[in-house]
Amino acid sequence: MTLQIPSDFELGVATAAWQIEGDLAGRGRSIWDDFAEIPGAIVDGATGDPACDHVHRLEEDLDLLAWLAVDAYRFSFSWPRVMPTGSGPTSPEGLGFYDRLVDGLLERGITPVATLYHWDLPSLLESAGGWPARDTAYRFADYAQVVAERFADRVDRWATLNEPWCSAFLGYCSGTFAPGRSDAGDSLAAIYHLILGHGLAVERLRAAQARNVGIVLNLIPVVADDLSMEPVVRHIDGLQNRIVLDLLAGRGVPSDLRESCASVTDWAFVRDEDTPVLPAPIDWLGENYYTIYRVAPVGEADADAIGQETAAIPACPPMRFAPREPLTDMGWEILPSGLESALRMATDALPGVPLWVCENGAAIPEVTDETGIHDQVRTDYVRDHLEVLVRMREKGFDIRGYYVWSLLDNLEWASGWTKKFGIVRVDPATGERTVKDSARWYRSLIAERG
Ligand code: FCB
Repeated sequence: MTLQIPSDFELGVATAAWQIEGDLAGRGRSIWDDFAEIPGAIVDGATGDPACDHVHRLEEDLDLLAWLAVDAYRFSFSWPRVMPTGSGPTSPEGLGFYDRLVDGLLERGITPVATLYHWDLPSLLESAGGWPARDTAYRFADYAQVVAERFADRVDRWATLNEPWCSAFLGYCSGTFAPGRSDAGDSLAAIYHLILGHGLAVERLRAAQARNVGIVLNLIPVVADDLSMEPVVRHIDGLQNRIVLDLLAGRGVPSDLRESCASVTDWAFVRDEDTPVLPAPIDWLGENYYTIYRVAPVGEADADAIGQETAAIPACPPMRFAPREPLTDMGWEILPSGLESALRMATDALPGVPLWVCENGAAIPEVTDETGIHDQVRTDYVRDHLEVLVRMREKGFDIRGYYVWSLLDNLEWASGWTKKFGIVRVDPATGERTVKDSARWYRSLIAERG
């Protein structure tokens, strides 16, 4: 069946600064640069420079976007490129790079969609305490103001944070992501301060006349076949989804979570004065969807799925993750219908807020021969998820657009170059770009939609 994309439905692609930019000489260090120096932290020893050398290949990458004819490009500002030490003076070169990026998009008729924080905290702010420290939220708001004052006239849509769950729980609980710390109590302080930082930043963005201010989450439906797992499902759903949605909706920390995490925190970091700040009204919500969590009683071996680790769950009850085939190279179960559940969660918590799918895509095996790079599973993955969105729109859900993750093969965080999500191949040794079949397919989908 051919996929009929409505003419007002936005199609785009997404990237993130640390994963593609390179050019460490042109910016301050971030926690990901420090993390990459820890032996074994990044599986193949990859570092943030050269990554995709995007800073030096900007024109070529802009031309790729123009060839695809995407409506929108979602990128992230690197905080340490804008403010090398995380607070205080800005870098004229860093701001100049983003001027060229944003102006280059506009010249090509592509809408710039910017994320302010896609996980690359300036190293000096981590030394000062990182996200478990309240002050980081205020530093984030200052940084947001600087960027908004410079770019509010040209950036069409703003996300404060990308997937705060990963920053907090992979960064500070399991320690599998930068900064690599493992303290369950600190990770709960981190998620709270991230959302506080978001609320403070929303105010600054609005004061700077930024249009369309929102946040991008990774809401993940949690399911279990075994009825006895109900309390575990609730705990994980609380940490993955409800804590953020409830803070954004003005309901505070869910009371069941306050109890189930009492062994690891006294929640002293929650302050009354934050009550009006946390639910700062947003104009849109982004969802990054890849998979669901399927949880099961302990017993059989744990799954080997990236990001699905009990160590990332504060006060984790006995359980294991048990994704089912088909799996991607990340070990993630492919389940397009889960996207509907995730988006329903968002609309239930924040009714009336328009939705965008800001990331969706797959790391899968590819076949390369003289005729090209064949990645049919990726194309099917994207098509099947788009199909879910088209059906949901027919049911009346306010879903405005979809961005493939990712434009380029890039540094997949702790997996380095070993997991490829691009619709365009990047040779890590030479930086050479080669379009894959999925990119050609996406381009024709955009062209046919008109
Ligand atoms: C998301 C991240 C993105 C990318 C994809 C695969 O969690 O936001 O940067 O790594 O996963």
